[in-house]
Amino acid sequence: MNVVSSRAELAAARAALPGRVAVVMTMGALHDGHVELIKQARAEADSVVVTIFLNPLQFAAGEDLDRYPRRLEQDLPLCGGAGADLVFTPTPDVVYPTTPVVRVSAGPLGDVFEGASRPGHFDGVVTVVLKLMHLVRPDVAYFGQKDAQQLACIRRMVSDLDVPVEVVAVPTVRDADGLALSSRNEYLTDDQHRSALVLSRALATRDLAAGRALLDAEAGVDLDYLERVDPHTFEVTPDGSLLVVAARVGTTRLIDNLLLEEVA
Ligand code: PAJ
Repeated sequence: MNVVSSRAELAAARAALPGRVAVVMTMGALHDGHVELIKQARAEADSVVVTIFLNPLQFAAGEDLDRYPRRLEQDLPLCGGAGADLVFTPTPDVVYPTTPVVRVSAGPLGDVFEGASRPGHFDGVVTVVLKLMHLVRPDVAYFGQKDAQQLACIRRMVSDLDVPVEVVAVPTVRDADGLALSSRNEYLTDDQHRSALVLSRALATRDLAAGRALLDAEAGVDLDYLERVDPHTFEVTPDGSLLVVAARVGTTRLIDNLLLEEVA
């Protein structure tokens, strides 16, 4: 496995990769969810590139950029074990040699749900994803269903801007107790972790009223939303096939979702 951090090294290493090239983009602090994306990419493509970049553009002032876990030494063996051929670990000045004034907008999809609590977040996500797609030039990119709204924004960006990359969604990987894996789970105390299980339990009811009742009854969990939405537009609709939930547990904001039927 080759590990590079400059644009020139990436370009040279990318040019040497054979066949159909997959990319898995991450912010590091890798867990089994990330590993599953890399494994699926390994199984389906000829070459696998992982990017590890904690993108400042998608964090607002006062968010958790400063306390976000960083541990490249542990991430690299996980990438290797899952079958990555090339890992790109740029610093912010490599990705943003100048502050980008021209940026990608996620549009209305970026303003609702997670975007409503995190203004500008999805613009920062789609901007870095497009930049990384240009730098890596993958044929296919793997993203987690865990971040369903991010996935929808990226699919829309790829479609609206004619980006020649196939997007593949990977099902959410969970702890044995049902909690969707997230780097932010590390912020939770044991008690908070137990409380956070109510998110997946609420989704499992597949019912808004029953789910909200469970969430409301859980001490220490502050519900933001539980809604049925269209998985592509995130419009709230009674027959929406995606159930999305967000709640704060202590100071940690957690999200989860459940597809109620296969998405066309
Ligand atoms: P990060 O949170 O590190 O997640 C990287 C990828 O792993 C995303 O596609 C995310 O959806 C996926 N993922 C995270 N937890 C998962 C789980 N439990 N099961 C399945 N997949 C999971 O998402 C980002 O980074 C960034 O916004 C990024 C796209 C890299 C742009 O900066």
